[in-house]
Amino acid sequence: MNFVTTKTAADMINTECLILGIFMGKMIGETAKYIDKNSKKSISKLIASGDIKTGLGSTKIINNMEGVKAKRVLIVGLGSQESFGADEFKKACESAMNSISGIKLNNFANYLIIEKVKSTSNYYKSRYFVEAYFSSIYQFDQLKTEKKNKISTPAKIIMGISNSGDSEKIKLGCEHGRSISVGVNIAKDLGNLPANICTPTYLANQSKKFAKRYKKMSVKILNEGTLKKLKMNSFLSVTAGSKEPAKMIVMEYKGAQKQRPYVLVGKGVTFDTGGISIKPSAKMDEMKYDMCGAATVIGAICAVAEMKLPINLNVVVPACENRPSSSATLPGDIVKSMSGQTIEILNTDAEGRLILCDALTYSERFNPKYIVDVATLTGACVVALGHIRTAIMSNNEDLSNNLMDAADKASDKAWKMPMGSEYDNQLKSNFADMANIGSGYGGSITAACFLGRFTKNMKWAHLDIAGTAWKSGAQKGSTGRPVPMLSEFIINQSKKNS
Ligand code: BES
Ligand code: MN
Ligand code: ZN
Repeated sequence: MNFVTTKTAADMINTECLILGIFMGKMIGETAKYIDKNSKKSISKLIASGDIKTGLGSTKIINNMEGVKAKRVLIVGLGSQESFGADEFKKACESAMNSISGIKLNNFANYLIIEKVKSTSNYYKSRYFVEAYFSSIYQFDQLKTEKKNKISTPAKIIMGISNSGDSEKIKLGCEHGRSISVGVNIAKDLGNLPANICTPTYLANQSKKFAKRYKKMSVKILNEGTLKKLKMNSFLSVTAGSKEPAKMIVMEYKGAQKQRPYVLVGKGVTFDTGGISIKPSAKMDEMKYDMCGAATVIGAICAVAEMKLPINLNVVVPACENRPSSSATLPGDIVKSMSGQTIEILNTDAEGRLILCDALTYSERFNPKYIVDVATLTGACVVALGHIRTAIMSNNEDLSNNLMDAADKASDKAWKMPMGSEYDNQLKSNFADMANIGSGYGGSITAACFLGRFTKNMKWAHLDIAGTAWKSGAQKGSTGRPVPMLSEFIINQSKKNS
Protein backbone atom coordinates (compact mmCIF):
# COMPACT_ATOMS: atom_id res chain seq x y z
CA MET A 1 0.00 0.00 0.00
CA ASN A 2 1.30 3.45 -0.80
CA PHE A 3 0.22 7.05 -0.44
CA VAL A 4 0.18 9.41 -3.38
CA THR A 5 -0.77 13.07 -3.50
CA THR A 6 -2.76 14.73 -6.26
CA LYS A 7 -3.98 18.18 -7.15
CA THR A 8 -6.66 16.79 -9.46
CA ALA A 9 -10.05 18.42 -8.84
CA ALA A 10 -12.34 16.23 -6.73
CA ASP A 11 -14.94 15.71 -9.46
CA MET A 12 -12.28 14.55 -11.92
CA ILE A 13 -10.49 12.03 -9.76
CA ASN A 14 -10.76 8.46 -10.90
CA THR A 15 -11.26 6.42 -7.75
CA GLU A 16 -13.42 3.76 -6.15
CA CYS A 17 -14.30 6.08 -3.30
CA LEU A 18 -14.02 9.83 -2.96
CA ILE A 19 -14.07 11.09 0.63
CA LEU A 20 -15.23 14.60 1.37
CA GLY A 21 -16.53 16.56 4.33
CA ILE A 22 -19.52 18.80 5.01
CA PHE A 23 -19.99 21.27 7.84
CA MET A 24 -23.12 21.90 9.83
CA GLY A 25 -25.51 24.71 8.95
CA LYS A 26 -24.87 25.98 5.47
CA MET A 27 -23.33 23.42 3.19
CA ILE A 28 -19.76 24.54 3.51
CA GLY A 29 -16.71 22.47 2.98
CA GLU A 30 -14.20 23.26 0.27
CA THR A 31 -14.64 20.09 -1.76
CA ALA A 32 -18.36 19.70 -1.13
CA LYS A 33 -18.99 23.26 -2.31
CA TYR A 34 -17.11 22.56 -5.48
CA ILE A 35 -18.80 19.21 -6.17
CA ASP A 36 -22.21 20.66 -5.43
CA LYS A 37 -21.73 23.26 -8.11
CA ASN A 38 -20.72 20.62 -10.64
CA SER A 39 -23.42 18.12 -9.82
CA LYS A 40 -26.63 20.14 -10.00
CA LYS A 41 -26.65 20.68 -6.23
CA SER A 42 -26.72 16.95 -5.51
CA ILE A 43 -25.13 17.41 -2.08
CA SER A 44 -27.39 20.31 -1.05
CA LYS A 45 -30.38 18.20 -2.01
CA LEU A 46 -29.21 15.26 0.08
CA ILE A 47 -28.72 17.52 3.10
CA ALA A 48 -32.14 19.10 2.62
CA SER A 49 -33.83 15.70 2.37
CA GLY A 50 -32.04 14.53 5.52
CA ASP A 51 -30.25 11.72 3.69
CA ILE A 52 -26.88 12.97 4.80
CA LYS A 53 -26.08 14.43 8.19
CA THR A 54 -23.55 17.09 9.04
CA GLY A 55 -22.91 16.26 12.72
CA LEU A 56 -19.29 15.50 13.53
CA GLY A 57 -18.46 11.92 12.59
CA SER A 58 -21.66 10.98 10.75
CA THR A 59 -21.03 9.18 7.47
CA LYS A 60 -22.96 8.25 4.36
CA ILE A 61 -21.95 6.52 1.16
CA ILE A 62 -23.59 7.67 -2.09
CA ASN A 63 -23.13 5.49 -5.16
CA ASN A 64 -22.88 6.93 -8.65
CA MET A 65 -23.23 10.54 -7.67
CA GLU A 66 -23.95 12.90 -10.51
CA GLY A 67 -21.10 15.04 -11.75
CA VAL A 68 -18.22 13.04 -10.27
CA LYS A 69 -15.99 10.43 -11.83
CA ALA A 70 -15.62 8.49 -8.57
CA LYS A 71 -17.61 5.26 -8.25
CA ARG A 72 -18.93 6.29 -4.87
CA VAL A 73 -18.68 9.24 -2.55
CA LEU A 74 -18.27 8.98 1.22
CA ILE A 75 -19.66 12.09 2.83
CA VAL A 76 -18.38 12.80 6.33
CA GLY A 77 -20.03 15.20 8.77
CA LEU A 78 -17.53 17.69 10.17
CA GLY A 79 -19.80 19.41 12.70
CA SER A 80 -19.58 23.11 13.33
CA GLN A 81 -16.95 24.97 11.36
CA GLU A 82 -16.19 27.34 14.26
CA SER A 83 -15.07 24.52 16.54
CA PHE A 84 -13.32 22.43 13.89
CA GLY A 85 -9.88 21.83 15.38
CA ALA A 86 -7.30 19.05 15.31
CA ASP A 87 -9.28 16.74 17.62
CA GLU A 88 -12.46 17.15 15.55
CA PHE A 89 -10.53 16.57 12.36
CA LYS A 90 -9.04 13.39 13.79
CA LYS A 91 -12.49 12.20 14.89
CA ALA A 92 -13.89 12.83 11.40
CA CYS A 93 -11.04 10.83 9.88
CA GLU A 94 -11.66 7.96 12.29
CA SER A 95 -15.36 7.82 11.45
CA ALA A 96 -14.59 7.97 7.75
CA MET A 97 -12.04 5.18 7.90
CA ASN A 98 -14.18 2.98 10.15
CA SER A 99 -17.13 3.33 7.78
CA ILE A 100 -15.22 1.91 4.81
CA SER A 101 -12.95 -0.60 6.53
CA GLY A 102 -15.41 -3.38 5.66
CA ILE A 103 -15.62 -2.52 1.96
CA LYS A 104 -13.20 -4.05 -0.50
CA LEU A 105 -11.61 -1.09 -2.23
CA ASN A 106 -8.61 -1.05 -4.52
CA ASN A 107 -8.04 2.60 -3.82
CA PHE A 108 -9.74 5.61 -2.29
CA ALA A 109 -9.19 9.35 -2.49
CA ASN A 110 -9.20 11.40 0.68
CA TYR A 111 -10.12 15.06 0.12
CA LEU A 112 -10.56 15.89 3.80
CA ILE A 113 -7.16 17.50 4.30
CA ILE A 114 -8.19 20.31 1.97
CA GLU A 115 -10.56 21.56 4.66
CA LYS A 116 -9.34 24.33 6.93
CA VAL A 117 -8.60 23.09 10.44
CA LYS A 118 -7.87 25.49 13.28
CA SER A 119 -4.26 25.75 14.47
CA THR A 120 -2.89 22.77 12.61
CA SER A 121 -1.00 22.15 9.39
CA ASN A 122 -1.11 19.88 6.35
CA TYR A 123 1.63 17.78 7.92
CA TYR A 124 -0.51 17.03 10.97
CA LYS A 125 -3.71 16.61 8.98
CA SER A 126 -2.18 13.95 6.80
CA ARG A 127 -0.59 12.28 9.82
CA TYR A 128 -3.88 12.12 11.74
CA PHE A 129 -5.58 10.72 8.68
CA VAL A 130 -3.03 7.96 8.20
CA GLU A 131 -3.15 7.08 11.91
CA ALA A 132 -6.94 6.86 11.66
CA TYR A 133 -6.62 4.62 8.62
CA PHE A 134 -4.27 2.15 10.32
CA SER A 135 -6.37 2.17 13.46
CA SER A 136 -9.48 1.30 11.41
CA ILE A 137 -7.85 -1.81 9.94
CA TYR A 138 -6.32 -3.06 13.20
CA GLN A 139 -7.60 -6.50 14.17
CA PHE A 140 -6.51 -8.72 17.02
CA ASP A 141 -7.70 -12.21 16.14
CA GLN A 142 -4.52 -14.24 16.37
CA LEU A 143 -6.00 -16.28 19.23
CA LYS A 144 -9.36 -16.98 17.57
CA THR A 145 -9.79 -20.21 15.64
CA GLU A 146 -12.15 -18.64 13.17
CA LYS A 147 -10.57 -15.47 11.91
CA LYS A 148 -12.71 -12.43 11.28
CA ASN A 149 -13.11 -11.50 7.64
CA LYS A 150 -9.71 -10.36 6.61
CA ILE A 151 -9.83 -6.63 5.98
CA SER A 152 -8.67 -5.95 2.46
CA THR A 153 -6.35 -3.02 2.24
CA PRO A 154 -6.28 -0.75 -0.80
CA ALA A 155 -3.21 -0.81 -3.03
CA LYS A 156 -3.21 2.97 -3.17
CA ILE A 157 -4.49 5.82 -1.00
CA ILE A 158 -4.79 9.10 -2.84
CA MET A 159 -4.43 12.32 -0.88
CA GLY A 160 -6.23 15.18 -2.55
CA ILE A 161 -4.47 18.47 -1.84
CA SER A 162 -5.26 22.07 -2.68
CA ASN A 163 -3.36 23.93 -5.39
CA SER A 164 -1.26 25.69 -2.78
CA GLY A 165 -0.74 22.49 -0.76
CA ASP A 166 2.85 21.46 -0.11
CA SER A 167 3.00 17.83 -1.18
CA GLU A 168 6.38 17.25 0.53
CA LYS A 169 4.93 18.16 3.95
CA ILE A 170 1.93 15.97 3.26
CA LYS A 171 4.10 13.05 2.24
CA LEU A 172 6.15 13.46 5.42
CA GLY A 173 2.92 13.53 7.44
CA CYS A 174 1.82 10.28 5.78
CA GLU A 175 5.20 8.67 6.38
CA HIS A 176 5.27 9.69 10.05
CA GLY A 177 1.64 8.59 10.44
CA ARG A 178 2.58 5.18 9.07
CA SER A 179 5.61 4.93 11.38
CA ILE A 180 3.65 5.95 14.45
CA SER A 181 1.00 3.39 13.53
CA VAL A 182 3.64 0.66 13.43
CA GLY A 183 4.48 1.62 17.03
CA VAL A 184 0.82 1.84 18.05
CA ASN A 185 0.09 -1.62 16.61
CA ILE A 186 3.07 -3.16 18.40
CA ALA A 187 1.81 -1.64 21.65
CA LYS A 188 -1.76 -2.84 20.99
CA ASP A 189 -0.66 -6.40 20.20
CA LEU A 190 1.58 -6.68 23.26
CA GLY A 191 -1.13 -5.18 25.45
CA ASN A 192 -3.91 -7.43 24.16
CA LEU A 193 -1.95 -10.66 24.60
CA PRO A 194 -2.88 -12.50 27.81
CA ALA A 195 -0.43 -13.06 30.65
CA ASN A 196 0.00 -16.77 29.87
CA ILE A 197 1.53 -15.78 26.52
CA CYS A 198 2.91 -12.33 27.16
CA THR A 199 5.34 -13.21 29.98
CA PRO A 200 8.50 -11.24 30.83
CA THR A 201 10.42 -13.75 28.67
CA TYR A 202 8.02 -13.15 25.77
CA LEU A 203 8.51 -9.38 26.06
CA ALA A 204 12.28 -9.92 26.04
CA ASN A 205 12.05 -12.12 22.93
CA GLN A 206 9.87 -9.59 21.13
CA SER A 207 12.41 -6.86 21.89
CA LYS A 208 15.13 -9.05 20.40
CA LYS A 209 13.00 -9.48 17.30
CA PHE A 210 12.62 -5.69 16.91
CA ALA A 211 16.34 -5.14 17.48
CA LYS A 212 17.00 -7.51 14.58
CA ARG A 213 14.51 -5.68 12.38
CA TYR A 214 16.13 -2.23 12.73
CA LYS A 215 19.77 -1.69 11.91
CA LYS A 216 20.38 1.04 14.47
CA MET A 217 18.69 -0.83 17.32
CA SER A 218 20.25 -3.21 19.81
CA VAL A 219 18.97 -4.94 22.93
CA LYS A 220 20.37 -6.40 26.11
CA ILE A 221 18.40 -8.63 28.49
CA LEU A 222 19.36 -8.70 32.16
CA ASN A 223 18.17 -11.78 34.02
CA GLU A 224 17.59 -12.32 37.72
CA GLY A 225 21.21 -13.17 38.52
CA THR A 226 22.36 -9.86 37.07
CA LEU A 227 19.53 -7.97 38.79
CA LYS A 228 20.69 -9.45 42.11
CA LYS A 229 24.28 -8.37 41.42
CA LEU A 230 23.04 -4.88 40.63
CA LYS A 231 21.23 -4.90 44.01
CA MET A 232 17.79 -4.35 42.51
CA ASN A 233 16.10 -5.77 45.60
CA SER A 234 13.04 -3.59 45.21
CA PHE A 235 12.38 -4.92 41.69
CA LEU A 236 13.14 -8.49 42.81
CA SER A 237 10.71 -8.23 45.75
CA VAL A 238 7.83 -7.93 43.28
CA THR A 239 8.74 -11.06 41.32
CA ALA A 240 9.46 -13.06 44.49
CA GLY A 241 6.11 -14.89 44.38
CA SER A 242 6.29 -15.87 40.71
CA LYS A 243 7.87 -18.80 38.92
CA GLU A 244 8.21 -16.79 35.72
CA PRO A 245 11.70 -15.29 35.65
CA ALA A 246 11.85 -11.48 35.76
CA LYS A 247 13.73 -9.70 32.98
CA MET A 248 15.07 -6.26 32.50
CA ILE A 249 15.01 -5.24 28.85
CA VAL A 250 17.41 -2.53 27.72
CA MET A 251 16.97 -1.35 24.14
CA GLU A 252 19.11 1.24 22.40
CA TYR A 253 18.41 3.13 19.21
CA LYS A 254 21.44 5.02 17.95
CA GLY A 255 20.32 7.49 15.31
CA ALA A 256 22.92 10.15 16.16
CA GLN A 257 26.60 10.38 16.95
CA LYS A 258 27.84 11.40 20.39
CA GLN A 259 24.69 12.79 21.91
CA ARG A 260 23.16 12.17 25.32
CA PRO A 261 20.29 9.74 24.89
CA TYR A 262 16.67 10.20 25.83
CA VAL A 263 15.45 7.38 28.04
CA LEU A 264 11.95 5.91 28.24
CA VAL A 265 11.21 3.51 31.10
CA GLY A 266 8.08 1.34 30.86
CA LYS A 267 6.31 -0.61 33.62
CA GLY A 268 6.19 -4.23 32.49
CA VAL A 269 4.07 -6.06 35.05
CA THR A 270 2.72 -8.80 32.77
CA PHE A 271 0.04 -9.56 35.35
CA ASP A 272 -0.82 -7.74 38.56
CA THR A 273 -2.82 -9.87 41.00
CA GLY A 274 -1.87 -7.43 43.74
CA GLY A 275 0.34 -10.09 45.34
CA ILE A 276 -0.44 -10.89 49.00
CA SER A 277 -2.46 -7.62 49.12
CA ILE A 278 -4.60 -9.38 46.54
CA LYS A 279 -7.04 -7.56 44.28
CA PRO A 280 -10.79 -8.32 44.15
CA SER A 281 -11.70 -10.72 41.33
CA ALA A 282 -14.07 -8.46 39.36
CA LYS A 283 -12.28 -7.32 36.20
CA MET A 284 -9.00 -8.71 37.47
CA ASP A 285 -8.37 -10.03 33.95
CA GLU A 286 -7.68 -6.43 32.94
CA MET A 287 -4.47 -6.56 34.94
CA LYS A 288 -2.91 -8.27 31.92
CA TYR A 289 -2.70 -4.68 30.68
CA ASP A 290 -0.34 -3.76 33.50
CA MET A 291 2.55 -4.02 31.03
CA CYS A 292 1.17 -1.30 28.74
CA GLY A 293 3.89 1.11 29.87
CA ALA A 294 6.41 -1.41 28.54
CA ALA A 295 4.36 -2.00 25.40
CA THR A 296 4.16 1.70 24.58
CA VAL A 297 7.84 2.49 25.13
CA ILE A 298 8.78 -0.49 22.94
CA GLY A 299 6.23 0.73 20.38
CA ALA A 300 7.67 4.23 20.57
CA ILE A 301 11.28 3.16 19.97
CA CYS A 302 10.12 1.15 16.94
CA ALA A 303 8.20 4.19 15.62
CA VAL A 304 11.36 6.29 16.05
CA ALA A 305 13.41 3.65 14.21
CA GLU A 306 10.81 3.60 11.40
CA MET A 307 11.14 7.38 11.07
CA LYS A 308 14.94 7.04 11.22
CA LEU A 309 15.13 10.07 13.52
CA PRO A 310 18.62 11.50 14.12
CA ILE A 311 18.50 10.99 17.88
CA ASN A 312 19.64 8.53 20.53
CA LEU A 313 16.89 6.81 22.46
CA ASN A 314 17.08 4.09 25.10
CA VAL A 315 14.21 2.04 26.45
CA VAL A 316 14.37 0.32 29.82
CA VAL A 317 11.68 -2.19 30.79
CA PRO A 318 11.55 -3.96 34.14
CA ALA A 319 9.29 -6.95 33.44
CA CYS A 320 7.81 -9.40 35.95
CA GLU A 321 4.61 -10.80 37.39
CA ASN A 322 3.08 -9.74 40.69
CA ARG A 323 1.39 -12.73 42.32
CA PRO A 324 1.10 -14.43 45.69
CA SER A 325 2.77 -17.69 46.76
CA SER A 326 4.70 -18.94 49.79
CA SER A 327 7.74 -17.06 48.52
CA ALA A 328 5.90 -13.79 47.85
CA THR A 329 6.81 -10.55 49.58
CA LEU A 330 4.69 -9.84 52.67
CA PRO A 331 3.16 -6.53 53.75
CA GLY A 332 5.58 -4.91 56.16
CA ASP A 333 8.67 -6.38 54.48
CA ILE A 334 11.52 -3.94 54.09
CA VAL A 335 13.83 -3.97 51.07
CA LYS A 336 16.91 -1.99 50.09
CA SER A 337 16.60 -0.54 46.59
CA MET A 338 19.48 -0.25 44.12
CA SER A 339 19.80 3.42 45.14
CA GLY A 340 20.51 2.36 48.72
CA GLN A 341 17.24 3.79 50.03
CA THR A 342 15.13 1.37 52.08
CA ILE A 343 11.42 0.81 51.43
CA GLU A 344 8.73 -0.56 53.72
CA ILE A 345 6.28 -2.43 51.50
CA LEU A 346 2.99 -1.73 53.24
CA ASN A 347 0.94 -2.85 50.26
CA THR A 348 2.24 -5.39 47.76
CA ASP A 349 -0.26 -4.06 45.21
CA ALA A 350 1.73 -0.83 44.95
CA GLU A 351 4.30 -2.81 42.96
CA GLY A 352 4.78 -0.63 39.86
CA ARG A 353 6.84 1.95 41.74
CA LEU A 354 8.93 -0.83 43.27
CA ILE A 355 10.11 -2.09 39.89
CA LEU A 356 10.36 1.39 38.35
CA CYS A 357 12.55 2.87 41.10
CA ASP A 358 15.32 0.36 40.38
CA ALA A 359 14.94 0.78 36.63
CA LEU A 360 15.23 4.57 37.07
CA THR A 361 18.33 4.23 39.25
CA TYR A 362 19.83 1.88 36.67
CA SER A 363 19.11 4.40 33.89
CA GLU A 364 21.26 7.07 35.53
CA ARG A 365 24.26 5.37 33.90
CA PHE A 366 23.05 6.60 30.50
CA ASN A 367 23.28 10.22 31.64
CA PRO A 368 19.93 10.90 29.93
CA LYS A 369 19.10 14.25 28.49
CA TYR A 370 15.53 13.63 29.65
CA ILE A 371 14.06 10.52 31.23
CA VAL A 372 10.34 9.67 31.06
CA ASP A 373 8.70 6.69 32.71
CA VAL A 374 5.37 5.37 31.46
CA ALA A 375 3.19 3.23 33.73
CA THR A 376 -0.32 2.00 34.47
CA LEU A 377 0.51 3.07 37.98
CA THR A 378 -2.60 4.02 39.95
CA GLY A 379 -6.34 3.49 40.01
CA ALA A 380 -6.46 7.01 41.48
CA CYS A 381 -5.35 8.37 38.11
CA VAL A 382 -8.43 6.88 36.47
CA VAL A 383 -10.57 8.62 39.11
CA ALA A 384 -8.81 11.94 38.48
CA LEU A 385 -8.65 12.07 34.68
CA GLY A 386 -10.89 9.25 33.49
CA HIS A 387 -9.99 7.52 30.27
CA ILE A 388 -9.39 10.77 28.45
CA ARG A 389 -6.05 12.17 29.52
CA THR A 390 -2.71 10.75 30.60
CA ALA A 391 -1.28 12.31 33.78
CA ILE A 392 2.08 14.10 33.58
CA MET A 393 4.13 14.64 36.73
CA SER A 394 7.65 16.01 36.55
CA ASN A 395 10.57 17.64 38.34
CA ASN A 396 11.34 19.78 35.30
CA GLU A 397 9.13 22.48 33.88
CA ASP A 398 10.62 22.45 30.36
CA LEU A 399 10.19 18.71 30.08
CA SER A 400 6.59 18.70 31.28
CA ASN A 401 5.77 21.59 28.94
CA ASN A 402 7.33 19.71 26.03
CA LEU A 403 5.34 16.61 26.86
CA MET A 404 2.11 18.57 27.26
CA ASP A 405 2.71 20.26 23.93
CA ALA A 406 3.46 16.91 22.26
CA ALA A 407 0.23 15.49 23.68
CA ASP A 408 -1.78 18.35 22.18
CA LYS A 409 -0.05 18.21 18.80
CA ALA A 410 -0.43 14.45 18.57
CA SER A 411 -4.06 14.70 19.72
CA ASP A 412 -3.15 12.12 22.37
CA LYS A 413 -4.25 14.13 25.37
CA ALA A 414 -2.51 14.59 28.71
CA TRP A 415 -2.71 16.87 31.74
CA LYS A 416 -0.15 18.14 34.20
CA MET A 417 -0.62 17.23 37.84
CA PRO A 418 1.26 18.74 40.79
CA MET A 419 3.92 17.22 43.02
CA GLY A 420 5.50 18.71 46.14
CA SER A 421 6.55 18.09 49.72
CA GLU A 422 2.99 18.14 51.10
CA TYR A 423 2.38 14.96 49.12
CA ASP A 424 5.85 13.53 49.46
CA ASN A 425 5.57 13.71 53.27
CA GLN A 426 2.80 11.11 53.10
CA LEU A 427 5.40 8.46 52.25
CA LYS A 428 6.82 8.52 55.77
CA SER A 429 7.61 5.15 57.33
CA ASN A 430 8.36 4.39 60.98
CA PHE A 431 10.79 1.66 60.03
CA ALA A 432 12.42 2.45 56.66
CA ASP A 433 13.40 5.47 54.57
CA MET A 434 9.97 5.48 53.03
CA ALA A 435 6.76 3.49 52.67
CA ASN A 436 5.58 2.34 49.24
CA ILE A 437 2.13 3.93 49.70
CA GLY A 438 0.94 7.34 50.81
CA SER A 439 -1.13 7.81 53.97
CA GLY A 440 -3.90 9.90 52.41
CA TYR A 441 -5.69 10.75 49.18
CA GLY A 442 -3.97 11.89 45.98
CA GLY A 443 -2.65 8.42 45.21
CA SER A 444 -1.34 9.25 41.72
CA ILE A 445 0.69 12.12 43.10
CA THR A 446 2.16 10.24 46.06
CA ALA A 447 3.12 7.47 43.62
CA ALA A 448 4.92 10.07 41.48
CA CYS A 449 6.60 11.50 44.59
CA PHE A 450 7.87 8.02 45.41
CA LEU A 451 9.51 7.81 41.97
CA GLY A 452 10.78 11.38 42.39
CA ARG A 453 12.96 10.18 45.25
CA PHE A 454 14.93 8.10 42.74
CA THR A 455 15.28 10.69 39.97
CA LYS A 456 16.75 13.67 41.82
CA ASN A 457 19.81 13.74 39.55
CA MET A 458 17.86 13.66 36.28
CA LYS A 459 15.35 15.73 34.34
CA TRP A 460 12.47 13.36 34.75
CA ALA A 461 8.76 13.02 34.04
CA HIS A 462 6.29 10.31 34.92
CA LEU A 463 3.26 9.46 32.76
CA ASP A 464 0.42 7.62 34.51
CA ILE A 465 -1.50 5.84 31.74
CA ALA A 466 -3.81 3.76 33.98
CA GLY A 467 -6.85 5.40 32.36
CA THR A 468 -5.66 5.75 28.78
CA ALA A 469 -3.80 2.52 27.95
CA TRP A 470 -6.86 0.35 27.40
CA LYS A 471 -10.62 0.35 27.03
CA SER A 472 -13.05 -1.81 29.04
CA GLY A 473 -16.47 -3.16 28.11
CA ALA A 474 -17.63 -4.11 24.64
CA GLN A 475 -14.67 -2.27 23.09
CA LYS A 476 -12.20 -3.97 25.43
CA GLY A 477 -8.69 -3.65 24.10
CA SER A 478 -5.38 -1.89 24.23
CA THR A 479 -5.35 1.65 22.77
CA GLY A 480 -1.65 2.00 21.97
CA ARG A 481 -1.64 5.29 23.85
CA PRO A 482 0.57 7.22 24.46
CA VAL A 483 2.73 6.09 21.50
CA PRO A 484 1.60 9.10 19.38
CA MET A 485 2.45 11.54 22.18
CA LEU A 486 5.87 9.96 22.84
CA SER A 487 6.66 9.86 19.12
CA GLU A 488 5.72 13.51 18.75
CA PHE A 489 7.90 14.38 21.74
CA ILE A 490 10.92 12.61 20.23
CA ILE A 491 10.29 14.13 16.77
CA ASN A 492 10.34 17.59 18.36
CA GLN A 493 13.47 16.85 20.36
CA SER A 494 15.25 15.57 17.25
CA LYS A 495 14.51 18.90 15.54
CA LYS A 496 15.96 20.83 18.48
CA ASN A 497 19.18 18.86 18.41
CA SER A 498 19.91 19.03 14.72
N1 BES B 1 -1.69 -1.67 38.20
C1 BES B 1 -2.31 -1.04 39.30
C2 BES B 1 -2.97 0.29 38.93
C3 BES B 1 -4.26 0.21 38.19
C4 BES B 1 -5.44 -0.13 38.86
C5 BES B 1 -4.33 0.54 36.87
C6 BES B 1 -6.62 -0.16 38.17
C7 BES B 1 -5.52 0.52 36.19
C8 BES B 1 -6.67 0.17 36.83
C9 BES B 1 -1.28 -0.74 40.39
O1 BES B 1 -0.26 -1.67 40.49
C10 BES B 1 -2.01 -0.75 41.69
O2 BES B 1 -2.51 -1.78 42.05
N2 BES B 1 -2.09 0.39 42.34
C11 BES B 1 -2.78 0.52 43.58
C12 BES B 1 -1.95 1.36 44.49
C13 BES B 1 -2.45 1.41 45.90
C14 BES B 1 -2.27 0.04 46.55
C15 BES B 1 -1.68 2.46 46.66
C16 BES B 1 -4.12 1.17 43.28
O3 BES B 1 -4.18 2.10 42.48
O4 BES B 1 -5.11 0.73 43.85
MN1 MN C 1 -0.77 -3.26 41.75
ZN1 ZN D 1 0.22 -2.71 38.83
